[in-house]
Amino acid sequence: MLMTTLTQKIEWIANKSRLFYLLTTLYYKNIIKREVRLAEIKPDDKILCIGGGPCPYTAIMLHQLTGAAVTVADNNAACVKKAANLIKRLGLDYAISIVCCEGEAIDCTGYTVIHLALQVSPKGKVLNHLLARAGSGVKFLVRLPKELVGGLYCDLESCPLPCHNYVEHDFYTNVGNTALYIKEGLYGAAQA
Ligand SMILES: C[S@@+](CC[C@H](N)C(=O)[O-])C[C@H]1O[C@@H](n2cnc3c(N)ncnc32)[C@H](O)[C@@H]1O
Repeated sequence: MLMTTLTQKIEWIANKSRLFYLLTTLYYKNIIKREVRLAEIKPDDKILCIGGGPCPYTAIMLHQLTGAAVTVADNNAACVKKAANLIKRLGLDYAISIVCCEGEAIDCTGYTVIHLALQVSPKGKVLNHLLARAGSGVKFLVRLPKELVGGLYCDLESCPLPCHNYVEHDFYTNVGNTALYIKEGLYGAAQA
């Protein structure tokens, strides 16, 4: 998708330039703070981020704000290599790992919080794959675009769970809101 490629290009530059990296973190800072509060993320949570790009800001800030360990899954091998290099340079490889994998095929066993980036595609397929395999009580944070730019991102289509809660984001971001879904025990039975 166009926006994924564009974001990857911006992040590619940020991966190489400390100044550009710091400037782009400003874009994500408030979004991620709100998401941490929304899902009440704790240090003993295990977080899985689907979509990290060359600069996995979300994973980095989720860890820095909460102390929780994070795994990032991205389906672009070049991005994974760049991101892993950045995490090592930042000295965060004790807490953040990067894997090359499709979100719609990943094993999410053991994760308590699962985060879907705005650019994840196909979002509905990825979310349904994860919902069917996650344990009871697992929290899902799903970034959704502002209406104005909705056509530039993959739509969620539908979710089999009702939205538990959501937060809205600032006017200057393309992220309209982040929705929280919580997998209840009955979900698996209903799907079986
Ligand atoms: C450019 S990043 C933006 C995320 C941002 N860096 C962050 O930390 O929130 C979005 C990434 O999602 C990845 N992606 C999109 N769909 C995916 C999928 N189905 N499975 C895994 N990764 C996916 C793309 O390869 C892209 O690198």
